[in-house]
Amino acid sequence: MRDTLGDASHRLDGAGCASARVDAEFLLAYVLGTTRSSVLVDRDRTLPDDVLARLEELVVRRERREPLAYVIGEWGFRRLTLKVDSRVLIPRPETEVVVERCLALLSELDEPRVLDVGTGSGAIALAIADEHPGARVTGADASVDALAVARGNARDANLGVEFVPCDLFAGLPAGPWDLVVSNPPYVRPDEIDLLEPEVRDWEPRAALVGDGAAEAVARGARAVLEERGALVLEVADGDAERVSGLLLKLGYVGVAVTQDLAGRDRIVEGATTFAGTVLPE
Ligand SMILES: C[S@@+](CC[C@H](N)C(=O)[O-])C[C@H]1O[C@@H](n2cnc3c(N)ncnc32)[C@H](O)[C@@H]1O
Repeated sequence: MRDTLGDASHRLDGAGCASARVDAEFLLAYVLGTTRSSVLVDRDRTLPDDVLARLEELVVRRERREPLAYVIGEWGFRRLTLKVDSRVLIPRPETEVVVERCLALLSELDEPRVLDVGTGSGAIALAIADEHPGARVTGADASVDALAVARGNARDANLGVEFVPCDLFAGLPAGPWDLVVSNPPYVRPDEIDLLEPEVRDWEPRAALVGDGAAEAVARGARAVLEERGALVLEVADGDAERVSGLLLKLGYVGVAVTQDLAGRDRIVEGATTFAGTVLPE
């Protein structure tokens, strides 16, 4: 197994994968149906041919820079393991902090109504339902393919989240919601070519590219939020100050920024003192 791991890692490194050795260990663990740490403990074991053949298929996929999460078909997010494929964005660690802020803001409410706009795999919606069992959560997305993935994840996790199609707030139940959360697309069209191939060539374009989506969600949320409701947005690195200013301009109060695990300003929140007000354009 030592040679097999070394060979896979060498090939992935040659293909430009950033963490080739770790990826090779994950792929082998996946094929063996075990954990990465068990693979490391058992390095002198001889691998049967069917395992080697299956590993070869996965290494070839990863060599093409298909994201590790798509190759193994699942990804961890907070306490959940979510199925993911090229229909949905792979949930990121910073989005786990988004969920943390939502849970903190909902902690005093027994049965809050929560809306996740642009739910993708359902990561945020499902994690909130999992960790705040009284919450009544709706996840919404413009992509029917993403909604199919999210519904599958809800079934697997046995969580009663409703998933509905929408275009931003169009097509959604009127609320009022206690919390609107969103990780909207925020890559500018001129930035897409600068991204790693795993993102640029494999993740859904509609989940990545969006200009002005944070503003559209913040504006739309005003009309559907409960008085004393809250809005939580994940924003692009370097955009927190601008989005905070936007929320203040739209009349949100208690506007605050939270850093992600890498210390970057990535989450902006605000509270409402109004209910169901639509701002003029
Ligand atoms: C950055 S991804 C976030 C996915 C997931 N919430 C997460 O954090 O992993 C943005 C999502 O917004 C969806 N989306 C893009 N435009 C939309 C729109 N106009 N209305 C609703 N959803 C939209 C995309 O399909 C995608 O699933």
